[in-house]
Amino acid sequence: MAADPQTQVKRRTSRQSVWRALASHYKTVSKQQLRQLFAGDPRRGQRMALEGVGLYLDYSKNRVTDETLKLLLQLAVESDLRPRIDAMFNGEKINITERRAVLHVALRAPKNASILVDGKNVVPEVHAVLDRMENFSNRVRSGEWKGHTGKRIRNVINIGIGGSDLGPVMAYEALKHYSERDMNFRFVSNVDGTDFAEAIQGLDPAETLFIVSSKTFTTLETMTNAQTARAWSVAGLGGDEKSVSRHFVAVSTNAGEVSKFGIDTANMFGFWDWVGGRYSMDSAIGLATMLAVGPDNFRAMLSGFHQMDEHFRTAPFEGNLPVLMGLLAVWYNDFFGAQTAAVLPYEQYLKRFPAYLQQLTMESNGKHVTLDGKPLKHDTGPIYWGEPGTNGQHSFYQLIHQGTRLIPCDFVAFAKTLNPLGRHHDILLANVFAQTEALAFGKTPEQVKAEGTPDWLVPHRVFEGNRPSNTILAERLTPEVLGKLVALYEHSVFTQGVIWNIDSFDQWGVELGKVLAQRIIPEVENGPEPMLNHDSSTNTLIRRYRKLKESQ
Ligand code: F6P
Repeated sequence: MAADPQTQVKRRTSRQSVWRALASHYKTVSKQQLRQLFAGDPRRGQRMALEGVGLYLDYSKNRVTDETLKLLLQLAVESDLRPRIDAMFNGEKINITERRAVLHVALRAPKNASILVDGKNVVPEVHAVLDRMENFSNRVRSGEWKGHTGKRIRNVINIGIGGSDLGPVMAYEALKHYSERDMNFRFVSNVDGTDFAEAIQGLDPAETLFIVSSKTFTTLETMTNAQTARAWSVAGLGGDEKSVSRHFVAVSTNAGEVSKFGIDTANMFGFWDWVGGRYSMDSAIGLATMLAVGPDNFRAMLSGFHQMDEHFRTAPFEGNLPVLMGLLAVWYNDFFGAQTAAVLPYEQYLKRFPAYLQQLTMESNGKHVTLDGKPLKHDTGPIYWGEPGTNGQHSFYQLIHQGTRLIPCDFVAFAKTLNPLGRHHDILLANVFAQTEALAFGKTPEQVKAEGTPDWLVPHRVFEGNRPSNTILAERLTPEVLGKLVALYEHSVFTQGVIWNIDSFDQWGVELGKVLAQRIIPEVENGPEPMLNHDSSTNTLIRRYRKLKESQ
């Protein structure tokens, strides 16, 4: 519930005063070196670390002091983080521009929980869908569910984009170790026909099941791919339209559009408008994940999510992993002016994790106005990017170590590998520790000179250090740990959004391009040269495209 206007003014004033205190404190901290901070506090590495639900976060290599943390935590309090967390968990309509509750946390709530939306407990519906998904997954995985010709399903292709693709792909890749290896899982998202053409390479339509995943069931890319898939499937199954019911299932909130497409709603798995696309990987959108890893592993993943939800909801802010990570993100974004943040998983199975996080973080917090529509006075939404280590070390790390920009990094690593192979894992982990050490402490001119480096070469070989990083260490990548990790970032994004006082749950910025594309499609398709009323650049590009595509 919103506070009364007087309290709101008081809150705003104290929030502004903490913000000013942070700005002035930044002037001191920005001159301090991590080298000094560690030298002055031999226990810093133990003190500035947190353990929550089995994830260890070392944040000691950040450019912070105890005073910074005190001020950031105060900022969280003055920004009403606690009541805003409660509002989300209580099903209040905190996505104010779409007047929706934001309840991805309900997707992983235990059966006996009660979470109300408009006075109705949504948890039983969540579990009813999960049970249907489980039943379906078991039937497909066991071969009981047959294709149109009686063959068992060997291939599953998820068609979706954005949140209806990135979560399922990331989770499939992350949990491949636990997946059914006798089946193929592929993902089609791009409207570029190449994506579909490559996904079906070598597949027999009689053994192929498509999951059309779309919250709205109107997304241009997904519907175009779904039509193409349907044509390919039906043609490959003797032209019999009845085959669709054995080879297509839908995941959506829009039963009307699903039936219009020709998928029986008996083969539809639903979810709800209070699940944002980028927060939907543990709704029915995760059907491909469940088919790949099985219901037990899927439920273990949900349990991981839930454990982190509870940690976020109940832990005091100073011991709260997502709160701390969110506040550190704000610290670099708004006070150091860092424009980007790198996420560097030292785990090959997490190769799609940075791509997944890009939608989660940037679609959520890429906003330019406050909740009450006022222009923001500070930056929001850092640009997230990354690649698994050690590969990134041999491409872009040079810029992180010696470039002119400050890039806070999150290193994610696991103590136990899923594929023990001689020395590989120790070497991998040694690299994580080496990188964070090198970033923080660098190499001084004196050290470089002492190695006998000629004077002219010294500046090139100096590492300034003082480059901040978090290290997240977990025991092993399991479905449960994956859930914890994703929820950690979800709630860090939430924390950042609360500090910036923005709506982290809408995405109006993607609309204009969609509308313009719809206008341009008929102008680029065949037919007589249309009257073009765009700007001169767009008109010329369209004309050139039309000419080029028709040339021999
Ligand atoms: O265009 C952005 C977006 O709306 C995302 O937020 C969403 O995840 C994606 O498109 C896909 O939407 P849908 O699931 O409705 O097809």
